[in-house]
Amino acid sequence: MERIQLTEQLGFSRIVHGHWRLMDWNLSARELLKLTEQVIELGITTFDHADIYGNYSCEERFGEALRLKRELRPNIEIVTKCGIKLLSAKFPERKLKHYDYSFDHIVSSVETSLANFNTDYIDLLLLHRPAPFFDPEVVAKAFAYLKKTGKVLHFGVSNFTPLQFEMLNAYLDEPLVTNQVELSPWCLDHFDNGNIDFFLKNKIRPMAWSPLAGGRLFNPRDEKGERLSRALWEVAAELNLETTDSVIYTWLLNHPAGIIPVAGTGSIDRIKGAAGAIGKTMSLEQWYKIYNASTGRDLP
Ligand SMILES: NC(=O)c1ccc[n+]([C@@H]2O[C@H](COP(=O)([O-])OP(=O)(O)OC[C@H]3O[C@@H](n4cnc5c(N)ncnc54)[C@H](OP(=O)(O)O)[C@@H]3O)[C@@H](O)[C@H]2O)c1
Repeated sequence: MERIQLTEQLGFSRIVHGHWRLMDWNLSARELLKLTEQVIELGITTFDHADIYGNYSCEERFGEALRLKRELRPNIEIVTKCGIKLLSAKFPERKLKHYDYSFDHIVSSVETSLANFNTDYIDLLLLHRPAPFFDPEVVAKAFAYLKKTGKVLHFGVSNFTPLQFEMLNAYLDEPLVTNQVELSPWCLDHFDNGNIDFFLKNKIRPMAWSPLAGGRLFNPRDEKGERLSRALWEVAAELNLETTDSVIYTWLLNHPAGIIPVAGTGSIDRIKGAAGAIGKTMSLEQWYKIYNASTGRDLP
């Protein structure tokens, strides 16, 4: 499969497998290993996690699978996130969901992730969400420590605005390598809020979460969903594609910003469909047909 460079040193598969819903897939460690091997066979080597996924369980389940085949680790890239403190029975002392970007929390979150994944390095650590209480000097110290000790190789953010991205970058020894944001024909926010222009200007490859809008486009419940579904099926027919998933991946992959979709399905057939979209093209008119179906109006 085609790869995409985030920096000279960091390459990802063109599509990433997202593990947010992993606990819903009800897979044993052995079954998850099998799915992971099938995914790797398709050329998808990058896996997206967060400390909090599955009520703090997904990292550990993936780690159990990796433990069954240790030779997989050097051939994959692990992305994980930190910063959100969820209310959870696992943390009975916590009384309020909040964000924590203190040195101690960032470092201890990474150390827990390393133990969960049964590995000694994370390829890419993302700050999960921007926070109103945020000290970039402290974050920079935590990143420098994690880099020096080899626990994290690269750093990025998620759901940041361009200004928040630049603000943190101004404190770091090494620039942030990506921003993981919600991007799909359903969610066009980042085409309007300056993020896409910022990515293009700075040659930053964004990661796109919920590329299929979490599945809502397949079961439209409102006018916007119905409009989009119609447009996607029309383009599918024009391109001879069997599913609208493939149309959506083609729509994302064709964009010049080098968008990296993070596919959240647990179905190997659907992952194959995602991988099959790589290298496919659509016309500008088809691209805009989908864009306009989402906004509900023609371009000015
Ligand atoms: N940084 C952040 O703040 C953030 C937030 C959310 C997510 N993420 C990351 O992004 C990844 C992807 O997010 P996502 O799971 O919302 O992605 P998604 O790919 O947009 O949605 C996946 C969901 O859509 C369903 N689906 C896929 N194809 C379908 C079809 N043809 N018909 C019906 N349902 C279909 C899947 O069900 P099946 O499993 O049955 O196929 C699954 O429930 C996550 O795993 C996580 O790694 C990051």
